[in-house]
Amino acid sequence: MNARRPDQPVVLVLFGATGDLSARLVVPALYNLFLAEQLPEQFTLLGVGRHEMEAHALADKLHEGVANYSRSGKPAREDWDRFSERIDYLHMNLKDKDAFNDLRHRLQGPDASAKDKTEYVFYMATPPSLFAPIAEGLGEAGLARDRKGSRIVVEKPLGHDLDSFRQINSALTHHFEESQIFRIDHFLGKETVQNIMAMRFANPIFEPIWNRRYVDHVAITVAETLGVEHRAPYYEKSGALRDMVQNHLLQLLCLVAMEPPVAYDADDIRDRKMDVMHALRPIDRDEVSELAARGQYAPGWIEGTAVSGYRQEPGVADQSNTETYAALKLQVDNWRWQDVPFYLRTGKRMAAAVSEISIRFRDVPHRAFPASVGLNAQPVRLVIQIQPHEGIVLKFMAKEPGSQLRLRPVDMRFSYAEAFNVPTPDAYETLLWDVMIGDATLFMRSDQVEAAWRLLMPVLDVWSGNPAADFPNYRSGTWGPEAAEALVARDGRNWLTPTLPSDRPGDES
Ligand SMILES: NC(=O)c1ccc[n+]([C@@H]2O[C@H](COP(=O)([O-])OP(=O)(O)OC[C@H]3O[C@@H](n4cnc5c(N)ncnc54)[C@H](OP(=O)(O)O)[C@@H]3O)[C@@H](O)[C@H]2O)c1
Repeated sequence: MNARRPDQPVVLVLFGATGDLSARLVVPALYNLFLAEQLPEQFTLLGVGRHEMEAHALADKLHEGVANYSRSGKPAREDWDRFSERIDYLHMNLKDKDAFNDLRHRLQGPDASAKDKTEYVFYMATPPSLFAPIAEGLGEAGLARDRKGSRIVVEKPLGHDLDSFRQINSALTHHFEESQIFRIDHFLGKETVQNIMAMRFANPIFEPIWNRRYVDHVAITVAETLGVEHRAPYYEKSGALRDMVQNHLLQLLCLVAMEPPVAYDADDIRDRKMDVMHALRPIDRDEVSELAARGQYAPGWIEGTAVSGYRQEPGVADQSNTETYAALKLQVDNWRWQDVPFYLRTGKRMAAAVSEISIRFRDVPHRAFPASVGLNAQPVRLVIQIQPHEGIVLKFMAKEPGSQLRLRPVDMRFSYAEAFNVPTPDAYETLLWDVMIGDATLFMRSDQVEAAWRLLMPVLDVWSGNPAADFPNYRSGTWGPEAAEALVARDGRNWLTPTLPSDRPGDES
């Protein structure tokens, strides 16, 4: 993210301004951009909600969200006063098509044809059922017509399956061109995720070894210690595969596996990612039990506190078949990655909150050292840490000091926080700024989302058609179900233990 302000005046229309996403993520990010002087000089936040309310009442509500969730903490009164001057409010029922004419009137005045330079960002922080009606309302009111100056932002979930994604997408693309549609996967806004490309393509040393000749396998872990919290109504219909794998984990896989782009531009990068999606070997329904594993958390302990199982959480059905854990083995069928498995896993209530990518390198081709020196102990691997720590760890073998020859795994660590010593922007700050300047590099293109749904449909179908007989099958506070261990054990491997803050260099299970 650059430090300059977008040049044009921007009106950001926030549908669902009274909701949770707006309060927790969107408005705190806008406020931090404002503090960093990265909002346009002329910026208006037009909140839209279905209740009558004055603009100052919305501002008060949003103040609470910023105070609770912004990385900059409680706003100073003077700063907030200056920011809140930019907040406006319009009440409209988003199911009412005529209301969009009121919106156009509010944005453009009575003479909609009057040309001004204002750009419009339409942000859908609403239930997904409203995505299509909003796109249609905007389109029919003529608010999508300016292909350069009008953009629409959508949040996951983009559909529930391949068909529902296509329905939402066709409503969007009927009125907006692809270049106007910004599909958020907030993982792509994280600094460390963007750094995967910097590491791979701005350094000559990684590319020569970034292939099947040197890499044994890749493991991607996105683990949470939280349970379902207050999200049961949504999560019961979603589950881990839709909620995390369909978007975040597959995006990470693409960044690791993609070929170098010719230029750092939206289409080039997204073309290279699409090549990876295209190369992912389809999962046959008959192979689902072998290539995928699911789990649901039982009661257990998280950081010394007893926690309940998924089926005991408020809003969850007694016999829920929803998976809170999913693991997959994928193969990228291309020249670079043939026969290198990519193992993906994600879960709630796991042993630690950690997201990271491990690139496990092959063993040395010949062991010159006797077995007694400990070479067998550890594989060499490169770990890209995404959260909570942001950094890179290279785990490799070194000789222990002393007259005896003994080898031991050690860590070489790069930490973002230590190297740059500046606060990193939240993912939403990066993404909102990119939307305002019209840069879609960090957003998901339609063909990629569609390919992700297509890949996962056999797993979703088999899982929904065959309720899991063993749920709940992993204790809270552990690394997931036995079925996931078996998934990698069939290939003679283990899940690589994530690097944790408390690790001593070289610690492994
Ligand atoms: N919350 C998160 O952390 C999160 C994370 C990722 C993605 N998302 C996605 O973001 C979207 C919003 O989620 P959320 O958690 O913020 O939901 P939410 O708290 O239920 O908020 C929904 C918003 O939509 C408004 N709304 C609903 N029906 C409307 C209608 N007919 N006309 C006008 N406004 C209407 C609601 O207004 P009222 O105040 O009048 O009800 C409210 O402001 C969803 O698609 C969700 O899947 C959320």
